[in-house]
Amino acid sequence: MKKITFICLGNICRSPMAEFVMKDLIKKNNLEKLFFVTSAGTSGEHDGEGMHFGTKTKLENLNIEHRNFKSKKLTQKLCDESDFLITMDNSNFNNVLKKFNNTQNKLLKMTDFASELDYDEVPDPWYSGNFDETYQIISLACKNLLTYLRK
Ligand code: 4NP
Repeated sequence: MKKITFICLGNICRSPMAEFVMKDLIKKNNLEKLFFVTSAGTSGEHDGEGMHFGTKTKLENLNIEHRNFKSKKLTQKLCDESDFLITMDNSNFNNVLKKFNNTQNKLLKMTDFASELDYDEVPDPWYSGNFDETYQIISLACKNLLTYLRK
């Protein structure tokens, strides 16, 4: 089983959206035995909180299950246990490289899987307020990521 951890700053907007979009895709493809998906934030500022209302609303409008989510801070242990660490923006990417050991070979950028779209980072809806734009990138990236992981 491969473990995939999506990473953003607060772990309440982007990485929870990626976690549940990916889980939904994995479930629809009957691949639950092959992949375990989770998410975490580099800041830990929202530890123990639920996801942002905008992410929750977007997932609910799409009928994507999102039960039992609690925001958590990224740890060395979670990095070690993960096969893939997928960051939402350049700051997350650089923070993970700087703060955690032995991550360089498993660290990837979400936008690398959405090369059809012209984004270098997944925009943060905490600031933009645009959860639809973020979802468009995340949903495409999750589809391409699953194709990559199945190879
Ligand atoms: P996220 O968005 O990294 O996509 O979860 C943010 C959530 C909270 C904050 C910043 C970004 N914050 O500053 O509290």
